[in-house]
This record gives sequence, structure tokens and C-alpha cells, in this order.
Amino acid sequence: MTAKDERCLRIGVLGCGPIAQFAHLEACRKAKNAELYAICDLADDLRERMAAVHQPKVSYRDYDEMLADPLVDAVIIAIADQFHVPAALKAHEAGKHVLVEKPLGTTVESCRELRDRAAATKLVVQVGNNRRFDPGIAFARQFIADEMGQRIALKSWYYDSVYRYTMTDNLQPIPVASSKSLRPEGDPKADRQRYYVLGHGSHLVDTARFLGGPIVGLHARLLERFGAYCWFIAVDFADGTLGHLDLQIPVRGDFQEGFQVYGENGSVTGRVHLPWFHKSSDVECFSTKDRQFHRVLGEDAHTYKRQIEGFAATILDGRPQAGASLDDGLAAVQAMVAIARSVETAGFIRLDEVSGGV
Ligand SMILES: NC(=O)c1ccc[n+]([C@@H]2O[C@H](COP(=O)([O-])OP(=O)(O)OC[C@H]3O[C@@H](n4cnc5c(N)ncnc54)[C@H](O)[C@@H]3O)[C@@H](O)[C@H]2O)c1
Repeated sequence: MTAKDERCLRIGVLGCGPIAQFAHLEACRKAKNAELYAICDLADDLRERMAAVHQPKVSYRDYDEMLADPLVDAVIIAIADQFHVPAALKAHEAGKHVLVEKPLGTTVESCRELRDRAAATKLVVQVGNNRRFDPGIAFARQFIADEMGQRIALKSWYYDSVYRYTMTDNLQPIPVASSKSLRPEGDPKADRQRYYVLGHGSHLVDTARFLGGPIVGLHARLLERFGAYCWFIAVDFADGTLGHLDLQIPVRGDFQEGFQVYGENGSVTGRVHLPWFHKSSDVECFSTKDRQFHRVLGEDAHTYKRQIEGFAATILDGRPQAGASLDDGLAAVQAMVAIARSVETAGFIRLDEVSGGV
């Protein structure tokens, strides 16, 4: 395992559910500049089992107690979407830096409140859009910024597969569940339309913005058949680039995530793998300057570990924030709300005019 730096960010992970078990607990331990200092979950059985495996210095049942621990520098908020903003606000009040899972929140207003309150502090808040730490996607973004010149078109897509778990069950540890876990009222995942947009659309929208810049408005269409959902979304980027985003869940085919970007001096195509493979996207950046393709190979592609390393480097060394910021998180939620409103009204929706939730 990579040796640890002399200075490590002491992280407290809130939530010991699936995403903590599949990603954050191990990623904190593997990150070169972070330490899994504390874990927290109300479910005693789950927390105790995770403490036995991952050996944090301390474990807390109560989130307020973890926040009161002066040795906790930062928290990772790995709990249900509906709890993200309240938990992040609490962390802020306690003076802790925050890495919050995506989506930032479930309503535009709550995300804006968090963004505005955070603006008054020097605390770092990063949203868990781990794809930004995929070396292929980061390379594509750099190529687009440095070489592509004016852009004309961006297409990106995200299809989750009906066979997804056949693949991912082999890649992830066997999850430990608890009947005592704290969950939001009702069953938010029962509304598939909403759940797919928040859970998967949050990646699609963020990657499109990461590569293409801010989105000003969109027009979305939705078709639901045989339990499958297909959103075709026509997007206007702030620089005038035309965009097409495509979200289909679940497809009777392979998981697919990718993008194409076309510009004055080149083009980019990218095929993104399921993050659990820890494999860099296959990205081809074609430049008219040398009429050759450029791509990365052999990079560390553990996106969950790298996002923690980026977060820690911003806090400890003042490095520019490579991950999604609060503005990015808010903009993604606005885009997802705009998708929902556009489907309802069959009209073009400006992101700066949306309110409410998905
Ligand atoms: N970035 C990714 O690739 C990715 C992948 C999957 C899930 N996610 C995100 O991760 C988040 C969490 O997902 P999950 O499936 O692990 O959630 P979950 O609800 O199954 O588990 C959360 C755990 O946190 C605990 N908890 C919640 N609030 C608490 C509190 N106030 N105090 C103490 N414990 C508390 C619960 O008891 C539960 O055990 C979601 O927002 C989801 O969108 C991200």
C-alpha cells in the first residue's frame, strides 16, 4: 500500500452504509494524505462491524459527538440524499470541512442556503462526483481547455444495465446491512423516475458540465416503457455549444457511460467504465495540430481514493479544488430539477429560473 504522507487529514465518515463500505472507508485508508480517524452510524451492529474491519481511532453513534471531536478535521457525508444538506450545515457550524456525496441535495433552495452559508467561511466543501478524478476524463477536460478552441457540440450518455449487479457484485465487498439504519421517511427510491435522475443523472450532468462548462437551459423528453426510462435532453451551454444528454435506465444491454465533444481544433470521445473497476476511461483526444490521437494510460484510477486525496490536498496544501464545488453541486441540482420541470411542461427550462425539487 502507498506510504502515508507526514501530514494526513483526519477524516470522520458519517454513515456506514453501502457507499461507505464500497468506497469511502477503504479509500480513506488508502489515500496517501488522509486517515480514517472516525466513523459514525446510528446502527450499532453496522458501526461495530465496520470498526472491527477498518480500525478507525474512534467510532461514534451520535453525529454531534463526532463533530465535537476536535481531532476530526473533515467529514465525509455518506448518507441518504435527503440528509445531505442538514448534515453539511451541521458540519459547517462545527468548523469541519466537508466531502458530501452526490447529489448535493434534493432541492434548489436547500443547496443554495448551504452554498451561501459556506461562502462566509474558509471551509472546503466538495461534492462526491468522483468521475472528475477519473484520469481519462480529467485529461479530456484539459485537452478541451488547452487545444480544442471553440466548441460546437457535446453529447454524453449514461445507461445503467439491467445486468449491473451481476457485474458489480463481483467487484465490491459483500455489503453488511442493518435493520437499525436511519433512512428517510417513506421510500424515496420507490419513485424510480426521481431516483434515477438524482442517483445517476447527477453523474451525467456533472460530467457534461465538467467538460462543456455551465448549462443555461434545457428541453427534456421522457419515455417510460416496460419498466425502463429514457430521457433525451437537448442542452444549451453558456458558450453556445449545443448539447445532447441521454439517460437510459435500465438498458437491456451493457452499462455505458461516455461522451463526444467536437470543436474547432479537435474532438474527444470517451468511454467510461463502471467506477468499481478502478479503470481509467478510454479517452481519445484528436488534435488537428498533429493529426494524432492523444490518450492517457497507466494512471491510478481509483476515483474514490483520488477524490479524497484531492480534497485533502486543497485543505492541507491550499491546492486548487479539483473536485466539484458547491456551485457545481447547486448547478447540477438545478439541471436535474430543470429536467423534471421540462418533462412535466414539455417546454424549454432555464436553470436560473427553477425552484423546488426533482
Ligand atoms: N459516488 C458514487 O458513485 C455513489 C454510489 C452510490 C451511492 N452514492 C451516494 O451515497 C449516499 C449514501 O448511499 P448509501 O446507499 O450508502 O446510504 P444508506 O442510506 O443505505 O446508508 C447510510 C447509513 O448512514 C446512517 N446514517 C444516516 N444518517 C445518520 C446520522 N444522522 N447519524 C448517524 N448515522 C446516520 C444510516 O444509519 C445508514 O446506515 C447517497 O447519497 C448516494 O447517492 C454515491
